[in-house]
Amino acid sequence: MIPQSFIQELLNRLDIVDVVERYVPLKKAGANYVACCPFHNEKTPSFSVSPAKQFYHCFGCGAHGSAISFVMEHQGLNFPEAVEELAKNIGLPVPHETTQREQDTRTAIAAGLPETMQQALRYYREQLKLSEPAIQYFKGRGVSGDIAAKFGLGYAPEGWQNLSAVFPDYATSTALVETGLIIENDEGRRYDRFRDRVMFPILNARGNVIGFGGRVLGAGEPKYLNSPETALFQKGQELYGLFQARNAIRNAGRVLVVEGYMDVVALVQHGVEYAVATLGTATTPVHVQKLLRAADEIIFCFDGDKAGRRAAWRALENSLGALTDSARLLFLFLPEGEDPDTYVRQVGKNGFEASYGDALTLSQFLFKEITRELNLTTDEGRAKLVQTAKPLIEKIAAPALQMMLRKRLAELTGLSAAELTSLLPQTSAAVPTRAPKVKSRRAPSLARQLLRMVLLRPDLAREAAMEPLDEENAEVHALRGVLDLIRRQPQIDTHAAILEALRGAPEEALLAEVAGEALAWDEAFDVAQEFNGALEQLRAQARQKRIDSLLALAKTQALSPEQKQALTRELAGGRVS
Ligand code: UTP
Ligand code: MN
Repeated sequence: MIPQSFIQELLNRLDIVDVVERYVPLKKAGANYVACCPFHNEKTPSFSVSPAKQFYHCFGCGAHGSAISFVMEHQGLNFPEAVEELAKNIGLPVPHETTQREQDTRTAIAAGLPETMQQALRYYREQLKLSEPAIQYFKGRGVSGDIAAKFGLGYAPEGWQNLSAVFPDYATSTALVETGLIIENDEGRRYDRFRDRVMFPILNARGNVIGFGGRVLGAGEPKYLNSPETALFQKGQELYGLFQARNAIRNAGRVLVVEGYMDVVALVQHGVEYAVATLGTATTPVHVQKLLRAADEIIFCFDGDKAGRRAAWRALENSLGALTDSARLLFLFLPEGEDPDTYVRQVGKNGFEASYGDALTLSQFLFKEITRELNLTTDEGRAKLVQTAKPLIEKIAAPALQMMLRKRLAELTGLSAAELTSLLPQTSAAVPTRAPKVKSRRAPSLARQLLRMVLLRPDLAREAAMEPLDEENAEVHALRGVLDLIRRQPQIDTHAAILEALRGAPEEALLAEVAGEALAWDEAFDVAQEFNGALEQLRAQARQKRIDSLLALAKTQALSPEQKQALTRELAGGRVS
């Protein structure tokens, strides 16, 4: 993790004009620079870069952000990569705070776990070459020598302490126990976990072996035995085959997620090289995040039976929070009785890929499942549908996708958009960042005006005495968030710094929009004076609201002494007499 203070320092040391200019030629226009937007097609420039405020904004497509976002979007990098890139250019080393995970990994490295796993891998691979039955097993399943090498397939021979041949300290080594390669029983006796099994090594993103899956050659229980969770290996975070599939995933722009080790091996053997498998667990949000960093399209492939449908549903639920608007999720169900291994063997690469045409989109699968047992011709059925859909739709972080699902839900239930909104309030996530700019005829609210000014001049917020704003809407909420932030972290003094500090926060989209408005502003006026004026108006409005509600209350009941006092105080302009 990169500490927030470093991000702020980086932004201070960079000039966004230099950064953007590296990729896009800029022309000076008044206080700002302009260009044809690199994020959408246009003939006249609507892309503007503000050196004073250190951000860019496109009035055409709404693209907006700091130097860091620019490099992310323009170069297709993720956040840490973009930070590294920018820091490198100005010769600034990036510090890293360590997460629990990173600490675990360090402890593991210090304890020699990776070398131990590596040695075991070498041993299992050698043993495969020596075992005729194991070779025959893989041959029988159509695995070629090349593919066996690509996946580092191996064999753990029969016997209880084979690994002692590789590890002279077998009787005392803690690393052997901590990797899960051997098991120590209650009497302190040690024995190999994997015996007479073909071995599937599980690699991390760097290609180091962190775990194993071992399959019995014939019948036997359990069919697959896996490494336990260790300091190196967390099942919910790893995907089998991802290391090998990296390039293929990038080239195909898609990744196929299946359930089994052998499914991946068989798919790759038949040319479907962008396949990975979860490790005997349901797909987790971490999996989905990892996959979406590699490709925009994820195809989850499941067996066509009830268990497959249940697993697909878990994958869907766990994906919702990790979705982005560029993501495309498909759910592919194979014919009953087939798994990806048997199916690709039957129909080949082309046949397999042709079946994607039958896959359901996320929206199709979601509504198909939740309407399965409902009668939508009745009011009760439709009400139940809204009730079931609501928590799912609310989980979706991608604004455009959330909008589409809301629309579909409205269609299915026959509710109007307004009725639906009253049942299922729009979350701020549903405000698209990249909405085409619509000219609003209504004057912006005071909170919005204040927000614009704070984004222009963060310093104003530090001095302003602001009483709590009791009105609640997205703009007030965002304003409060920004004010809190600036007060807590006085080093945050540019708009870009605010944007980075609130990256990923619910108010992010709104801030981007409002900052775009601020950029378009004529700055000839005295921002500080406007700010204080607007603040005073906002206070007056809030006061008036409190007065109105007290007066309304007074019509129906006698006010308590405290309420009377409050009314007098509010009428006197909020000052305590
Ligand atoms: P399946 O039982 O569907 O097996 O397990 P498969 O992949 O088709 O295996 P083959 O074709 O008979 O060799 C799917 C996945 O579930 C996990 C493994 O990760 C396996 O690849 N699993 C299954 C276990 O961890 N343990 C088991 O006993 C069975
Ligand atoms: Mn199988």
